Amino acid sequence: MKSNSLVSIDQCSKEDILRILDNARKFEEDPNRKVLKGKVAATLFFEPSTRTRLSFETAVNRLHGRVIGFQDASTTSSSKGETLKDTILMVSNYADLIIMRHHLEGAARYASEITDIPIINAGDGANQHPTQTMLDLYSIRKTQGTLDNLNITLVGDLKYGRTVHSLIVGMSHFNPTFHFVAPNELKMPDEYKNFCDAHHIKYYEHSTFSQEVINDSDILYMTRVQRERFTDLEKYERVKNVYILRNSMLEDSRDNLHILHPLPRVNEIAYDVDDSPKAYYIQQARNGLFTRQAIICEALGITI
Ligand code: CP
Repeated sequence: MKSNSLVSIDQCSKEDILRILDNARKFEEDPNRKVLKGKVAATLFFEPSTRTRLSFETAVNRLHGRVIGFQDASTTSSSKGETLKDTILMVSNYADLIIMRHHLEGAARYASEITDIPIINAGDGANQHPTQTMLDLYSIRKTQGTLDNLNITLVGDLKYGRTVHSLIVGMSHFNPTFHFVAPNELKMPDEYKNFCDAHHIKYYEHSTFSQEVINDSDILYMTRVQRERFTDLEKYERVKNVYILRNSMLEDSRDNLHILHPLPRVNEIAYDVDDSPKAYYIQQARNGLFTRQAIICEALGITI
């Protein structure tokens, strides 16, 4: 990484990514080590989270560090009007590392510019979710045996979905072919299609979640339509159940197909898919523990 903070996946070279994934594999073999003894990590969650916050906190605890922080900003002095700048500067007095999720795009980058301690972006609005990408890459490599030359189908909310935006950038080193499946209202933003063009990455856009696309995929990456990003709830109601993956749709899929989802899910994966050996979203979230242990050590300059 160019700095010790991780605010965007585009900071990471291919070598950075592969090193972090290799270190994550070591943590999967042994997640309980004393490498963070004496260190304090702050988790500042201005937006709700289950997996990201708890996996980060578990990562620190298993490495024998300590955690401070909040999961509800309404209990902090930001509810009295304290600015993000002052909050970050205060927490920097207490902790060695800040892990933050914020609804404003660019919030983590801004924080990294005003403090000397490393910032890890745990999601900033519809922009980026780089640690999710690292665990997605880990999960893809683990299930496919490689990151190279894969057909990856991204399904659902491709407009507001920060995980798919980060994944495009993270996969760009590995010659993927993308299929973007989204209704017109939630299409992949031009910014990311331009990125693909600039990096000679093949992509195809679809509004129908067809059997042909499913059968051609190595990875099917389902996403939730994010109610919290809509200002017009009628629009949300129109698109919320637009694509639902059911087990019967996997009959002729490739043997190596795996289904990923950053979670939480709402309706986009039927529960009958859970018993399929191709369903990988629960293990995917587990992989978040090991990849976040590797990311924390990278940010703090700790060699594994
Ligand atoms: N994937 C993810 O970011 O989940 P949480 O919102 O529960 O952290």
